[in-house]
Amino acid sequence: MALCISGSEKETEDIGCRLGAKLDKGGFVALYGELGAGKTAFVRGLARGLSAGEAVSSPTFTLMHRYEGRLPVYHFDAYRLKNADEAEELGFEEYFYGDGVCVVEWAEKLQNILPGERMDVKITRAGENIREIALIPCGKKYERIAAEVGK
Ligand SMILES: Nc1ncnc2c1ncn2[C@@H]1O[C@H](COP(=O)(O)OP(=O)(O)OP(=O)(O)O)[C@@H](O)[C@H]1O
Ligand SMILES: [Mg+2]
Repeated sequence: MALCISGSEKETEDIGCRLGAKLDKGGFVALYGELGAGKTAFVRGLARGLSAGEAVSSPTFTLMHRYEGRLPVYHFDAYRLKNADEAEELGFEEYFYGDGVCVVEWAEKLQNILPGERMDVKITRAGENIREIALIPCGKKYERIAAEVGK
């Protein structure tokens, strides 16, 4: 595990950017953290790290946004889903094992359908502007990436 401390929204974006830069096809990032923790800020940086120029915002109502980067970036928000079955019915898994990189806010809602190989990112509020960002690798590839991003 790598633990990063962020003192601002920009720092959170920069950590996301460092992770995004390391991802390749099939990359998967599961985000956890309460409302306003900074999940979307992290995704904004992650998309930048994948050279996706578009504006990143929470896909709370649309459930998914797609950004064009060096790979397609699929940004999901599972907040409004009841459970993983609903995500299955909506065809999320087609993207999970597809041509791009997936990043999911409120990943706990999709627990049983998350790919086994992924990076879990847990964001915790530790003060008005302070966030603890834990990068928890699942699988060998992500162990290396966590070590590099955590440096
Ligand atoms: N260190 C920090 N990192 C990230 N955001 C921060 C930080 N300090 C303060 N903030 C503020 O916290 C808020 C984070 O909002 P953001 O939309 O990224 O959260 P979220 O986890 O995606 O919330 P939601 O669950 O509603 O989708 C922003 O208003 C941001 O300015
Ligand atoms: Mg959000």
